[in-house]
Amino acid sequence: MSQPVSGTEGYAEEAGELFTRYENIRSADAHRAVLHLMPSSPRRVLDIGAGTGRDAAWFADMGHHVVAVEPTDALRLGAIARHPSPAIEWLNDSLPDLALLRRRNATFDLVMLTAVWMHLDIEQRRRAMPNLASRVADDGMVIMTLRHGPVPPGRRMFEVSPDETTELVRPYGLQLMLNVHSESIQAANRPAGVSWSTIALVKANST
Ligand SMILES: C[S@@+](CC[C@H](N)C(=O)[O-])C[C@H]1O[C@@H](n2cnc3c(N)ncnc32)[C@H](O)[C@@H]1O
Repeated sequence: MSQPVSGTEGYAEEAGELFTRYENIRSADAHRAVLHLMPSSPRRVLDIGAGTGRDAAWFADMGHHVVAVEPTDALRLGAIARHPSPAIEWLNDSLPDLALLRRRNATFDLVMLTAVWMHLDIEQRRRAMPNLASRVADDGMVIMTLRHGPVPPGRRMFEVSPDETTELVRPYGLQLMLNVHSESIQAANRPAGVSWSTIALVKANST
C-alpha cells in the first residue's frame, strides 16, 4: 500500500465520520469572518485540502468555477459522489509542491486553505509558500484558517500562527489584510481548547 501524503495521516480511516461532521457545518458559518471578502461575481476559486467538498459546493452554488485539491482518496472520491457539480474540478494534488497545478501554471482569484496549513511542518510550510503564491492571480486573495490547540490522536499537526504565516509569504508579494481570532464552531472542540485564526492575504498587482 502506498504511503499517505504527509499531513493526511488519520483522514482516510475517519472519512465516513468526517462526511457527517464536516457536512453538518455550514460554509457561511465556517467563513463568517471573511464573508464580506467573498467575490460576488463569478471567479476562479482554488480550494486546497477540500475535504468532503462542502466549501467547493458552496462556491460552485455561488457561480464560481472551483478547482478542489484533495489528496485523501476516500475524501476526494466521496466528495465527487456527494457534490457532483460540473463547476467543480477535483484534483489529486498536495502541498507543499502542488505539482499538478504547477504544471498547468493556472492562477486563481481566490485560494482557500481551510483547516489545512497546520498539517505541514515548518520545512514544508517554507517550501509550500512560493508554490502557493504562484497560484494567486494579481489582485487575488488567499484565505487561510489556522488551528490552535491540542492535536487529535492519529493526526499530524503543528502550531501555526498568523505572524509566522505573514512573514513566510511576504517575499512572494502577499500582504496581510485581515486577521481574526475566534473559538471553534464545533461544540466538541471548544472545551478542548481549540480556536482558530482566519487570515486574508492579498497579492498587489505587480504592473
Ligand atoms: C481538517 S480537514 C479540512 C477539510 C476542509 N477544508 C474543511 O474545511 O472541511 C484537512 C484537509 O487537509 C487535507 N490535507 C492534509 N495534508 C494535506 C497536504 N499535504 N496537501 C493538501 N491537503 C492536505 C486532508 O486530507 C483534509 O481533507
